[in-house]
Amino acid sequence: MTNHFPSTRLRRNRKDNWSRRLVAESKLTTDDLIMPLFIIEGSSKKIEVESMPGTFRYTLDELVRVVEDVHKLSVPLVALFPCLENNLKTHDGSEALNQHGLIPRAIKKIKNAVPEIGIMTDIALDPYTTHGQDGLIDKSGYVLNDETNQVLCQQAKIYAEAGTDIVAPSDMMDGRIGRIRNELENHSFVNTKIMAYTAKYASSFYGPFRDAVNSKLNKTGYDKKQYQMDMANKKEALREAELDLFEGADMLLVKPGLPYLDILENIKSYFNVPTFAYQVSGEYSMIKAASKQGWINEKDCVLESLSCFKRAGADGIVTYFAEKTARWLQMN
Ligand code: PBG
Repeated sequence: MTNHFPSTRLRRNRKDNWSRRLVAESKLTTDDLIMPLFIIEGSSKKIEVESMPGTFRYTLDELVRVVEDVHKLSVPLVALFPCLENNLKTHDGSEALNQHGLIPRAIKKIKNAVPEIGIMTDIALDPYTTHGQDGLIDKSGYVLNDETNQVLCQQAKIYAEAGTDIVAPSDMMDGRIGRIRNELENHSFVNTKIMAYTAKYASSFYGPFRDAVNSKLNKTGYDKKQYQMDMANKKEALREAELDLFEGADMLLVKPGLPYLDILENIKSYFNVPTFAYQVSGEYSMIKAASKQGWINEKDCVLESLSCFKRAGADGIVTYFAEKTARWLQMN
């Protein structure tokens, strides 16, 4: 029981920098950072994403250079996303199963040049389909669950063969974690980790990402609300988490980030397993835009938002600010 004022003054511990550090309940470090990277075909190119100033799409040679930098800063993990030319996109997204596609080549190239850094690859079809959905669709535009799972299993196996450390299914099909786990076990990829996008909400904050990977949803038929979660739901996220863990997920991910901190905290405190947050493209772009205008301070706001993820229980954060943040933390 806390004594009353004035014997208790909570401001005493807040007075000095050293005492604030001493009593801090959580701490953001470089080990918490996951750096997403966009990849394009070609060489010696680095193209800025217009709606994400400061974020680039890299050709494989440039990609290796960035990964080397990020590794030198001690960031443990990079997450790879392909941005394909339109002529490689098809109705069924078959390029996702090309063993010599952009992602398998990127994995091998990074593993060769920087073997110590972790690589995570997205399992979903949206960068590969002409319609922008994460899976196979029927005539009405409905995403077919079980048929999509079969393709996702093959995609996961191909990335595992190429050497990815983590596969991250971001598609929200029912039962895909179990199917992918089986596929990996059956092919002796017993140490390939699965980071399940467990609670991925149908969010408007993904807009700039869809610019970055050129996966704008065409407006006919359904949107992604038929499989991504409804923003109104919190208890349902616990059911998703329970299923993913039961099916063999090693790590869970909540997405988007700041608007969904309650979901993150709930899942972490309920299951106590490695749980991550994704500070998504729209969150990045908001901070960038406001700081460009001089309305907020970029560094302070980024460090604050990432620290809030830690306070809420995140074991780590996927953030487009990862490299910058690692530099800032080094300077502290
Ligand atoms: C695709 C995927 C998306 C993101 C990560 N993987 C977009 C979507 O579901 O439409 C969004 C990431 C971001 O906005 O930063 N499966």
